[in-house]
Amino acid sequence: MRLYSHEELGQLDANATELADRIQSGQALIGVVGLGYVGMPIALEFCKKGFQCIGVDVSEKKVEALNRGENFIEDLKDEEVNEMVQNGRLRASTSYEALADADVIYVAVPTPFDANKDPDLSYILSAGEGIASILQPGKLIILKSTTFPGTTEESFAPILDKSGYKVGEYYLAFSPERVDPGNTTWHTGNTPIVVGGVTEAGGILAALANNQIIEKVYVVSSPKVAELEKLLENIFRSVNIALVNELAMLCERMGGIDVWEVIEAAATKPFGYMKFTPGAGVGGHCIPVDPYYLSWLAREHDFETRFITLAANTNESMPYHVANLVVKAIARQPISLYDAKVLIVGASFKKNVKDIRNSTSEAVILRLLEQGVTQIDVTDPWVDYFPVGGKKYPSVDITPEMLASYDCVVLITDHDAFDVEEIVNHSRYIIDTRNMTNGVTHNRDKITVLGVTEPKVKVEELKIKN
Ligand SMILES: NC(=O)c1ccc[n+]([C@@H]2O[C@H](COP(=O)([O-])OP(=O)(O)OC[C@H]3O[C@@H](n4cnc5c(N)ncnc54)[C@H](O)[C@@H]3O)[C@@H](O)[C@H]2O)c1
Repeated sequence: MRLYSHEELGQLDANATELADRIQSGQALIGVVGLGYVGMPIALEFCKKGFQCIGVDVSEKKVEALNRGENFIEDLKDEEVNEMVQNGRLRASTSYEALADADVIYVAVPTPFDANKDPDLSYILSAGEGIASILQPGKLIILKSTTFPGTTEESFAPILDKSGYKVGEYYLAFSPERVDPGNTTWHTGNTPIVVGGVTEAGGILAALANNQIIEKVYVVSSPKVAELEKLLENIFRSVNIALVNELAMLCERMGGIDVWEVIEAAATKPFGYMKFTPGAGVGGHCIPVDPYYLSWLAREHDFETRFITLAANTNESMPYHVANLVVKAIARQPISLYDAKVLIVGASFKKNVKDIRNSTSEAVILRLLEQGVTQIDVTDPWVDYFPVGGKKYPSVDITPEMLASYDCVVLITDHDAFDVEEIVNHSRYIIDTRNMTNGVTHNRDKITVLGVTEPKVKVEELKIKN
């Protein structure tokens, strides 16, 4: 982090200059609305740099836990959160009143879609109402929640204006989040970030604030650019995952070509290629949701994002495909779907995290239930209970006897904690959607890997019974 001179900061009005000084001197009081996967790391980073920080969340449970010094985000160190609470730098409240003296307020609330897959901005708007009730001139608001272009200026700012002040009197910027839970290389501090201010001063101040905890900050010309670049990042992943998912299904159809070997081979190219891998779909708060934020906006402009929607649909078809693989595996055994016992291995949406939002395991379970497979258990060391369709599936412990009792074991989330050897040794049949069994050379005849089938036998070579 470096200090910027007033000349470097450009033409700032008196309020902005004062705020810039407060930020650079570590005196600014930082507010964070939404103490989740995005908000908590921001709050903790500021505290670690010596700032005072107040978090506001509608969840009493989270606020009370944090004020007791308890950490609830797996990537954060328990002792660091506790230390910051004990030394008085970090505190939390359910009331927006607590933000009355905050100089900078980050907003990191959910942006899901509704039942029709249209954007649900209600959390952002409700946070805006709360902030408007305490907003004063000279304060900086930074929206972090992923959303479609125009949200900051056309939806969020008008709510903030209910304070009686307009942008320019207060400062506003959009700065999308790039935190990747479970990633041990890239964290808040070393992941570059983008900022788009509604006014030039908003952009400069937001860059300055971010720069206290993040090494590299890129200022773009508007919040809309920042909003769309975030959607581009996530849709890029959605499209590329859809590509390999489609390739996996093609490889199964053709037989004799292992899609995982194909992907590894392509990944030897040192430029112009980025590796993505197939799976039972896409999960989490971002990749399954963000394509729809953009397609909804596109429709407003009489534009159909066909390519992006096709990719989303391809990914959404994967749980159906995996459920069919399970049904086929059961059909090979002398048991009916109704009597079959299935174990889902992995409930969280990606490896080594406990986040179960939009988990593909949920989608696979729902598809299996639809097909009449009702005896389903779930195991996941990161998750105590997995709620699906009104039922809470407790995470069961994996033992050799327990594994042997299932007619099909479905590997969905590739947590490092899973002992794949043990699973292969004791399971009767395995559907592996993440190539977790790669490297296990024995018992291959009882493993079906997504994207891998035996070479096809020609129809004329089949011994068809009359
Ligand atoms: N989780 C990620 O990896 C990630 C990465 C990049 C961007 N994002 C985006 O960041 C935003 C937040 O995601 P998250 O994963 O941190 O969500 P989260 O669910 O972990 O946290 C959001 C928090 O906001 C609180 N909240 C909801 N409404 C509120 C309100 N009106 N006032 C105060 N608090 C409120 C919730 O109780 C919750 O604690 C989303 O837009 C998401 O798409 C998430």
